[in-house]
Amino acid sequence: MMHLVRPRVHVSEPVPREVDEALRREFDLVGTPQGADGIVSMLTVTVDDAYLEAAGPQLRVVANYAVGVNNIDLAAARRREVVVANTPDVLTGATAELALTLMLSLLRRVGEGDRFVRRREPWRFSLEFMLGRRLAGATVLIVGAGRIGRETARLAEAFGARPVLAGRGDDLDSLLREADIVSLHVPLGDDTRHLVDARRLRLMKPTAVLINTSRGAVVDEEALAAALHEGVIAGAGLDVYEHEPEVCEKLLPLKNVVLSPHLGSATRDTRIAMGMLCVEALRAVLLEGRTPANAVT
Ligand code: DGY
Repeated sequence: MMHLVRPRVHVSEPVPREVDEALRREFDLVGTPQGADGIVSMLTVTVDDAYLEAAGPQLRVVANYAVGVNNIDLAAARRREVVVANTPDVLTGATAELALTLMLSLLRRVGEGDRFVRRREPWRFSLEFMLGRRLAGATVLIVGAGRIGRETARLAEAFGARPVLAGRGDDLDSLLREADIVSLHVPLGDDTRHLVDARRLRLMKPTAVLINTSRGAVVDEEALAAALHEGVIAGAGLDVYEHEPEVCEKLLPLKNVVLSPHLGSATRDTRIAMGMLCVEALRAVLLEGRTPANAVT
């Protein structure tokens, strides 16, 4: 189809060069959402009713550069007949790998060891020094049986762990009691906000560790910090934070915590693939007049 006027697209943050070039081949990039036909939003942008109103009635599609869409008011988008698309599948492997990385770093005390070496503390090899635990043999409770959860289970199994998948309707409280590692892979919504709170932390074994690569607010971060200080659970590996990019101060001095700055999908290939899915969604709606494969509204 020939388009005499190229659709206008606003991109909320810089994107990889390959994605930028792909966007510029088909669209006119504009500096603000006002007047745009399509928007590429990062998870740091709140796309609520006010944002959509300000963008204007010509807006037809928001392509979120993430699989999680908790930054978008989907009901408001639906009311305004704005298609919302996300970037599933292409980041599944990278995010699951990061969950495994946090598990292994925590169990084998890699973060703690790294900080120890950098402090130039005196040390020599000794048999009882900084002993950790194996992932092999551990019961890994994967909360959320979607793509990333299932891939994390597959990787954990390859390390000799025993993955248990918990989906909607499963008795999370009972499963938490049995787990050595709890890894969170649920989207953030009203039903999952503070899914792991003070009460549920107390159900976990005192030797258990919690891994979160989903969204920070799935965990009550204050309650987690308190639980770690009091020895209610043994450790945590966090990639996401309740008030991102702020991190609860009380977590910082803890040895038994590994922290990374929201790196789940942070490999170059993954980020390019995510961007190309956004381009595809814009193309579908703005150039071909069809619903994109990754539409969530
Ligand atoms: C997502 O896609 O939702 C991740 O959190 C960032 O890539």
